Amino acid sequence: MKHPARVKIVDVSPRDGLQNEKGSVPTEVRIELVDRLTDAGLQSVEAGSFVSPKWVPQMADSAQVLARIRRKPGVAYPVLVPNLKGLEAAIAAGATEVAGFAAATEAFSKRNTNCTIAQSMQRQAEVCKAALAAGVRVRGYISVVLGCPYEGEVKPQAVADVARQLQDMGCYEISLGDTIGTGTPARAQKLIETLARDIPVKMLAGHFHDTYGQALANVLAVMEQGVAVFDSSVAGLGGCPYAKGATGNVATEDVLYMLNGLGIETGIDMDKLLDAAEFICARLGRPTVSRAGRALIAKRDKAAA
Ligand code: HMG
Ligand code: MG
Repeated sequence: MKHPARVKIVDVSPRDGLQNEKGSVPTEVRIELVDRLTDAGLQSVEAGSFVSPKWVPQMADSAQVLARIRRKPGVAYPVLVPNLKGLEAAIAAGATEVAGFAAATEAFSKRNTNCTIAQSMQRQAEVCKAALAAGVRVRGYISVVLGCPYEGEVKPQAVADVARQLQDMGCYEISLGDTIGTGTPARAQKLIETLARDIPVKMLAGHFHDTYGQALANVLAVMEQGVAVFDSSVAGLGGCPYAKGATGNVATEDVLYMLNGLGIETGIDMDKLLDAAEFICARLGRPTVSRAGRALIAKRDKAAA
C-alpha cells in the first residue's frame, strides 16, 4: 500500500458540527473549541460560515468567533461563503481563507443554496475573483459527490464538471463532500480516478460523513490514490441542515488513530485532541461518537484513577 507521508486534517466541527445543533451553541463555546483544536496542532480549522442567518441561524455569530479566537501563525481558519455578501462580511471579520460551496446535483443545489448549479457557479466565480483580488485564499466544496438525498446516484462526471470549474476559478483545493455518507470505497476510488484525469490529486480533499459507517474506509481507499487532505470533525459532530438524517463527519480522533497507526505524520497531539472532544461533548451534553475517542478517553480515565 502506498500512502502519503503526511496528511493535512481540516477539522470542520466548529462549522459543519455546530451548524446542525438544534439549540444555538454559545459563541464562547465555539471560540474555545477552535482554540482547543489549534492547541492540539490542527493546521486548519473551519471556524464558521457567512450564510443567510435565516437559513442557518447557528452560524450567525461567525464574525464574533473570527474576532475572538486566538489566531496562531501558520494556521488557516476558513469560513464558508455562498455569495459576495458573505465574502464581504467574512473579509470584514478578518477572514484570510474562505470556502465556496456548490453541489453535484440540481436538487441539492436548490435546497442548499436556492439556485441552479449554473447560478451557483456564477456566484462562486464572483466570490473567487473578489477573494483572490483581496489576497484571500479560496477552497471549493462540492456536495453530494457520492449520492444525493433527492436525486439518488450521482455520476462521477457530474462532480468532475463542477470540480473543473472550481479549479478554473482559482480554488486552491477542492473538497469532495459525501454529504449523506452513502459512498463506499470502490465508488470513492472511481470518483478520484475520474477527477484525476483533469485535476491534480494533490488539490483534492475528502469530506466524508459517516452516516453509513463507511467514512474511515473511504479515507483509506482514496489515500491509496494519493489524496492527502481530509476534513473531519472532533467527536464526529455534524451534518447538513439541508440533508435530513445525515450524521456527522468522520471523527478526527478516528482518522488520527488510523494515521498514527500507519506512521503518517499530521502534527496533531491525540491527548489534546481528546481534551477538545471532552470539552465540546460536555458542553453539548452528549457522548462522543468517535470509537477511538471513546476507547482512548476510557483508558486515560482508568490510568488516572
Ligand atoms: P436566498 O434566500 O435565495 O438569498 O438564499 P437572497 O439573495 O434572496 O437573500 C435573502 C436574504 O438573505 C436577504 O436578507 C439577504 O440579504 C440575506 P433580507 O433582505 O431578506 O433581510 N443574505 C445573506 N445574509 C447574510 N449572509 C449572506 C447572505 N446572502 C443573502 N451571505 C443563500 C441564498 C445562498 C444566501 C442561502 O441559500 C444560504 O445562506 N444557504 C446556505 C445554506 C448552508 O449554509 N448550508 C450548510 C453549509 S453547506 C454543507 O454543510 C455541506 C458541506 O459540509 C460539504 C458536504 O458535506 O457536502 C460544505
Ligand atoms: Mg459536510
